[in-house]
Amino acid sequence: MKKELKVPLIKDGTVIDHITAGNAVQVLHIIGIPKGSSSVVSVAMNVKSKLGKKDIVKVENRELDSKEVDKIALIAPKATINIIRDYEVAKKHKVQLPDEIVGIVKCENPTCVSNTNEPVESRFKVICRDPPRIKCCYCEREPEDIADRII
Ligand code: CTP
Ligand code: ZN
Repeated sequence: MKKELKVPLIKDGTVIDHITAGNAVQVLHIIGIPKGSSSVVSVAMNVKSKLGKKDIVKVENRELDSKEVDKIALIAPKATINIIRDYEVAKKHKVQLPDEIVGIVKCENPTCVSNTNEPVESRFKVICRDPPRIKCCYCEREPEDIADRII
């Protein structure tokens, strides 16, 4: 008897693979599936992989922009983004945080200049990619839980 039901392959879209186990829900939040969307979305959590457990998110008819990819790198530093075209993996790349991230994380220091009415975008220096650690370029504060601070 077949004991496994694999997540179906998709025709066109994006597969975000090797997501840190347990973080698929945050990835879904980042890519934002619009209400009423009719595209197929599949999520697998805590599935076995070569290196322990992982999550997978598959979204049909969707490609990600660079901001979304940087946000995913902040919560799933080992993720790979696979672009699927006509059932084939047309492109595969690992997420990689840039040296600085601008405008995607809110500083947790309420008096930071990036949180005032000044027209200053948040800016963080990446001090470690895996596990992700970032530090505010203005006040040096390091957010405790990055996922909570993603804009
Ligand atoms: N995939 C999919 N639909 C397709 C083709 C691939 O959902 N039409 C998924 C696969 O299930 C897998 C991911 O896309 O989760 C990457 O596919 P592939 O490169 O074939 O798998 P692996 O070689 O195992 O990938 P990696 O080496 O990155 O682990
Ligand atoms: Zn700050």
